Amino acid sequence: MAVNGPSREERWRLAGKTALVTGGSKGIGRAIVEELAGFGVRVHTCARHDADLQECLRRWRADDRLARVTATACDVSVRGDRERLVAAARDELGGRLDILVNNAGQTFFKPATDCSAEDYARLMATNLESCFHLAQLAHPLLLLASSSGGGASSSSSVVNISSIAGFVSYPTLSVYSATKGAMNQLTRSLAAEWAKDNIRVNCVAPGGVRTEITASSGIKMDPEVAQKMVAAELARVPMHRLGEPEEIASMVTFLCMPAASYVTGQVICADGGRTIAA
Ligand SMILES: NC(=O)c1ccc[n+]([C@@H]2O[C@H](COP(=O)([O-])OP(=O)(O)OC[C@H]3O[C@@H](n4cnc5c(N)ncnc54)[C@H](OP(=O)(O)O)[C@@H]3O)[C@@H](O)[C@H]2O)c1
Repeated sequence: MAVNGPSREERWRLAGKTALVTGGSKGIGRAIVEELAGFGVRVHTCARHDADLQECLRRWRADDRLARVTATACDVSVRGDRERLVAAARDELGGRLDILVNNAGQTFFKPATDCSAEDYARLMATNLESCFHLAQLAHPLLLLASSSGGGASSSSSVVNISSIAGFVSYPTLSVYSATKGAMNQLTRSLAAEWAKDNIRVNCVAPGGVRTEITASSGIKMDPEVAQKMVAAELARVPMHRLGEPEEIASMVTFLCMPAASYVTGQVICADGGRTIAA
């Protein structure tokens, strides 16, 4: 670090920053909300089901560190909802956004030949179009935050949550994998385009994580089949276990910190070694 650069405390600090995290009522998104808020970030989040959000808000308000989290019910696959979400975040967060985390996502399991036009359109809108459009909508707010002084250590951040399915192929996940592979490349493209704006864009690609994603995606699965799928996956994971949402949230949080001020355009796998296994 330059002689007059930020101190160690400043490099590992997020207090006073603001963030919009999509899909914060469950799983990885909820862990990201709680981790960022725990570091003193004012977080606005969203999910489709308002009852789940209200339950989260009730729990968060009972915890001093998380009490300032706010939320809006919104379906990120719908253009108008995305516009309303960013407007609500802008109002709640005082017109400034330091961090955007595009986390909300869904999946389905189907052979490519069985995918309908509706299946394809829904997943593209939920996982990929939302990521692009929310980044577009957030850009003026991220720009305002990044140009408010403080040099490289005050860069604002976009973090996308893709998946190792964007790198390795799984039968029945062709559309999901396509959305995640595109998110990986979108990360690199936006990082190159927005470096001049002092906005860093990175991506975390999780392997299998213990969440409710099949239920949230409306998939009804025989528990025995689900168990076999997990066992087959774990046999290929050197660490032989699923990840926990908090293990993804900590990587996201690091990428948002001034400590990561020279990291942009990267897709970082948090996967227990799955993508490096023979
Ligand atoms: N779990 C894994 O093994 C795994 C692995 C790799 C990547 N990922 C990625 O990680 C991200 C989070 O997944 P997760 O496993 O944490 O899933 P999850 O437990 O199902 O949580 C998803 C969150 O996103 C919200 N959400 C879903 N669709 C939405 C929509 N259209 N609009 C607004 N909010 C929406 C959900 O709330 P509502 O249902 O109320 O909308 C929920 O809060 C996804 O992008 C997923 O692809 C997960």
